[in-house]
Amino acid sequence: MMKVVITGANRGLGFEFTKQCLVQGEEVITTCREPVNALNLQSLKETHNNSFQIVPLDVIDYHSIELAYKQISSLFSRIDLLINNAGIISGSIRRYHAFGEFFTEDIVRVFQVNAIAPLLVTEKFYPLVKNGNQPKLVFISSRRGSISQKEGTSTYSYDASKTALNMFGKRLAAHVKRDNVILFLLHQGWVKTDMGTDQAPVRSPDSIKGMLHIIENATLAMSGSFLDWQGNLIPW
Ligand SMILES: NC(=O)c1ccc[n+]([C@@H]2O[C@H](COP(=O)([O-])OP(=O)(O)OC[C@H]3O[C@@H](n4cnc5c(N)ncnc54)[C@H](OP(=O)(O)O)[C@@H]3O)[C@@H](O)[C@H]2O)c1
Repeated sequence: MMKVVITGANRGLGFEFTKQCLVQGEEVITTCREPVNALNLQSLKETHNNSFQIVPLDVIDYHSIELAYKQISSLFSRIDLLINNAGIISGSIRRYHAFGEFFTEDIVRVFQVNAIAPLLVTEKFYPLVKNGNQPKLVFISSRRGSISQKEGTSTYSYDASKTALNMFGKRLAAHVKRDNVILFLLHQGWVKTDMGTDQAPVRSPDSIKGMLHIIENATLAMSGSFLDWQGNLIPW
């Protein structure tokens, strides 16, 4: 049984990760900004009470990261799998900012959530990860962060934040390999969620099933890779 921690799990892919990990019999601490309002997660507690905890975590608030670490380390002596999932596509109510409408605060916020937070959360939680059984760190990236596969979208800050995340992940993977910790970056396909919209072709249960299969079979040799939910390597 793995001890799993997931960020940004009250909806979308984070919620589906939580659900499937629990169904697989893992012990899960899932995190979100406002547990009291996370009714989906609360309802999972009814069926998985003994193996499931919800801890508050706003990934861009360092105090919140410290409090979450304190609470998690009182519940888990190790983390076998940390999934950095929380992400945003835009830092403001306007969905995207195109050339001619750039807005510093928007770009900074997207970078904070998508690129900087996974680095800081991982750094803070690392003592527990180092204690893990075949420990794995997963950074949820996006194909849009691939410079060579860029398809001319208008989500400048989102795409660039995932490119930055890829670089952080690649650097960190080499570092943590010394402790036998596996780190890789995953793209889950274009998935039907609030972010992915209803037009997306992939259902979240399928995407998560594919990613969990990759995670379960991950080895140190694939550390530092950037893969999609079906296991295909994505060029940087
Ligand atoms: N859907 C796709 O097609 C797709 C494709 C490629 C990659 N991705 C990546 O997959 C991940 C999940 O995306 P999704 O589609 O599930 O998006 P989503 O439905 O918009 O959900 C995003 C989640 O991130 C949380 N979050 C945002 N800011 C946070 C913060 N500061 N602290 C803690 N949690 C925060 C949200 O919490 P609140 O409810 O509190 O806002 C929500 O639970 C993201 O990293 C995204 O970039 C998605």
